[in-house]
Amino acid sequence: MTTVLEGVSAFLAREHGLLIAGEEHDARSRERFDVVNPATGEVIATAPSAGAADVDDAVAAARAALPAWRALAPTRRAELLWDLGTAVARDADELAQLEAIDNGKPTGEALAVDIPLTAEIFRYYAGWTTKIEGATIPISSGSFHTYTRREPVGVVGAIIPWNFPLLMCGYKLGPSLAAGCTVVLKPAEQTPLSALRLAELMVEVGFPPGVVNVVTGFGETAGAPLAAHPGVDKITFTGETETGRKILDASKGNLKRVSLELGGKSPNIVFADADMDAALQGTFGAVFFNQGQCCIAGARTYVDARREEEFVERLVERARDIRLGSGLDPDTDMGPLVSEEQLRRVTGYIETGVAEGATVLAGGSRADDPGLTAGYFVRPTVLGGVNQSMRVMREEIFGPVAMVSTFSSEEEAVALANDTSYGLAAGIWTRDVKRAHRVAAAIDAGTVWVNTYGWFDVAAPYGGFKMSGYGKELGEEALGAYLQTKTVWVDLS
Ligand code: NAI
Ligand code: MG
Repeated sequence: MTTVLEGVSAFLAREHGLLIAGEEHDARSRERFDVVNPATGEVIATAPSAGAADVDDAVAAARAALPAWRALAPTRRAELLWDLGTAVARDADELAQLEAIDNGKPTGEALAVDIPLTAEIFRYYAGWTTKIEGATIPISSGSFHTYTRREPVGVVGAIIPWNFPLLMCGYKLGPSLAAGCTVVLKPAEQTPLSALRLAELMVEVGFPPGVVNVVTGFGETAGAPLAAHPGVDKITFTGETETGRKILDASKGNLKRVSLELGGKSPNIVFADADMDAALQGTFGAVFFNQGQCCIAGARTYVDARREEEFVERLVERARDIRLGSGLDPDTDMGPLVSEEQLRRVTGYIETGVAEGATVLAGGSRADDPGLTAGYFVRPTVLGGVNQSMRVMREEIFGPVAMVSTFSSEEEAVALANDTSYGLAAGIWTRDVKRAHRVAAAIDAGTVWVNTYGWFDVAAPYGGFKMSGYGKELGEEALGAYLQTKTVWVDLS
């Protein structure tokens, strides 16, 4: 068991406020909520519970900061974003521990994915600040100098979930700040700590007050007033599809721009000719990475019927070998789920699956090992005997639960893969290059991985089709989501 770093203990010992206009404030109501370590069930900190009045203050601060921020030299915006990336990379060990304590994820995973990718996002978008260009338009109908300007949409409300608490801050802040927008960020109530630490880092590197404001609090009391606020021009949201609908409803008053990154039920197809070692490894990560709490989780595994037996046997063996434990322990393979609510939701789905006729091949319950019972640990679970009509094959479980089914032709595999209301991602395992491209084209999903799964890069756009939402994250496309085009006409006649 590693000891908690001094910087982390010091951070936890401080009482944190909402960041509004560059300063920490109590919520106007003075209410705070508990932040729980999901590995132990212990309260490790408290955070202010923002309400509508605090959201008003934060939006006012973001509006006040907007004119100067959008007018700031792009090279200066670049410098601030770059410095923020550097600060995140510098504090990687502390930030990884904060994520482990708050979200439950193993520090090794946070150090491999969450923290370096967050740092890279800030640096990547630092590079874009100087490359936001308009165009001159050739006009046929008269003598004009006509050109476009790409301008920031204005004040952005960013509402994010708990599965990648710091990384989601990066997804939303990187492109919006590069575009010249100012932001009110609402982290998830389960995991507010790394966003509060990031707020401190933004003050440290010199972001002007009000450019980013952080309001911690609950969905109904802090998220909903932000989504409805007339002073907010755009909402960028990641979370549950049902919450996405509520946000759309709330945003219609002033016709906000909305980007939604919602749920998924992604298929992962293993063809008979696949490199089985690689497919197994990839499937394993697709299902169990981040305790299965990934919107892109490859929850529906379809294996060619001829390879089912060996594949399932090896998957089950590996699932049984996973070491559960605190995310702070370097020997831990898998941490706890984020909250008691999520634990109940996931074990509830496993029970539903069994009631519908699925067979538990591995796991299937909350972990009862000594030392784990106070935390929200679920054993890595493999369900066999599933079919398309079962709820466990249609709804997002968001936990370490693999459903394995079979197919007997390529057409059938594609039909099964597309038989979902979601369209976030998919995986294909095959050595046949023609089939790989054919199936990648046939699947209705925003990302298709071939002979890999879950790979991300800051330059590659990512986002859903169908009920997984709209609007891309990362890459140049995400930048475009925070810009609007103005056309200027100058009469030269
Ligand atoms: P959620 O969608 O309710 O929460 C995400 C964020 O939205 C949080 O910051 C929350 O405070 C906020 N929020 C909630 N209600 C709101 C409202 N009415 N207006 C504005 N903001 C609101 O997700 P939750 O309840 O934490 O998790 C439930 C399920 O959602 C999970 O089991 C999982 O299936 C799915 N989910 C999917 C995610 C994804 O990345 N696709 C991320 C998190 C959850
Ligand atoms: Mg919710």
